[in-house]
Amino acid sequence: MQQTRNSFTGKVGFVLAAAGSAVGLGNIWRFPYLAAKYGGGVFLLVYIVLVITFGFALMVAEVAIGRRTGLSAVGAYRALDKRFSFLGYLTSLVPIIVLPYYCVIGGWVTKFLFSYAAGQGAQMVQDSFFNNFIAQPVEPVLWLCLFVGATALIVFLGVESGIEKASRFMMPVLVVLSVAVSVYSVTRPGALAGIKYYLIPDFSRFSPVTVLAAMGQMFYSMSLAMGIMVTYGSYMKKDTDLEKSVSQIELFDTGMAFVAGLMIVPAVFAFSNGDESALNAGASLMFITLPKVFADAGTLGYIAGGVFFLLVLFAALTSSVSLMETVVSIFRDKFGWGRKGTCLLVTAGCLLLALPSSLGHGVWSGVTIFGMNFREFFDFISNNVIMPVVAFVTCIFVGYFIKPKLVEDEVLISSAFRRRRMFEVVIKYIAPVFIVLILVSSLLDALGIMTI
Ligand code: PHE
Repeated sequence: MQQTRNSFTGKVGFVLAAAGSAVGLGNIWRFPYLAAKYGGGVFLLVYIVLVITFGFALMVAEVAIGRRTGLSAVGAYRALDKRFSFLGYLTSLVPIIVLPYYCVIGGWVTKFLFSYAAGQGAQMVQDSFFNNFIAQPVEPVLWLCLFVGATALIVFLGVESGIEKASRFMMPVLVVLSVAVSVYSVTRPGALAGIKYYLIPDFSRFSPVTVLAAMGQMFYSMSLAMGIMVTYGSYMKKDTDLEKSVSQIELFDTGMAFVAGLMIVPAVFAFSNGDESALNAGASLMFITLPKVFADAGTLGYIAGGVFFLLVLFAALTSSVSLMETVVSIFRDKFGWGRKGTCLLVTAGCLLLALPSSLGHGVWSGVTIFGMNFREFFDFISNNVIMPVVAFVTCIFVGYFIKPKLVEDEVLISSAFRRRRMFEVVIKYIAPVFIVLILVSSLLDALGIMTI
């Protein structure tokens, strides 16, 4: 186990590995469609406030617990307090649920990359290009297999550190290209209404569901509440500035999500002739809006489209690798299995679980759970239910059992810990109360028991 860990992140450093895990489809695909759907500016504002307070406190707690114990989630929580072993298992559930459907979206990105490479940029402007594609029974599954295969190969060969090193180059390029695309997007005729929608909060659109959606997105995007940051913390050296590292990841992750929103939300206005219902496109938003932006820029746009999807694929891979690596280590820790065998098993399981998520957009679209297709359901249950519960239990655990001082002492080894006061107040009081309120009210709403 020790050796596997070293090869995973030991060589590339905490910030790079954690940023590789954090920045992915969550920022580029998921954040913009949620922002579009949940009121634009209000969502953005709530999101940023949550990142600075809850996100920071939780990430510091998870990383410090990992560094203090030198263990990954299940072992770390157990080592600090036996009664909290269950927290480790609960966190383990999240990557097991997320990985399969993450790969479905990864497959869609791969398809778009190849479509641009095949010179189909002009056809991709039609909404039907994407909608017909995901409704097919076989084609999306093949792209899914390709994406899962690539992820598995990296984990199987243990070359994650190579991938993370490559992402040191790819990530900055992704940022630069995204900024360029967003500048192009916001200068399209008709985009102004979209910029206003995205940047100016309209409080009449505010509801507890907005907060739950933003909170789930924050956990997802920062790779929190699923034990990953505990594991990464266990590789962190004692002399690495913990607080500064967390702030850097926070800033990079949120910055990338912000730019992605700027790339997509105003473009929805510009290319839908003011039809606001386009904002509700959900998971398909990125795949429907971006091809229009690229096509608008002609040949150069098609090239940019191809490069863009290549970079997104890269960001998605670094995240899916960290997800699969976590799932593999959960099984290895629990059952003492070998690395390669576990890897094959996890790959097979992932494909099997991903199948309903993929088919749910086509042949199985008639099967719904609380009105959601399979992928939406897995997304909802992990982001909006299990992750808030894990976050709540983590706050109680840190605030009242091991006590904030344990975490603070760990942080103080390497940092001045300027946000210490805030950390303590958030972890002990604000976050737990708030999470329960939001969770209960939104669940009642989602299940149709009560409308807010
Ligand atoms: N944070 C990743 C993203 O934004 C998703 C992810 C979640 C990756 C959890 C690893 C673990 O895309």
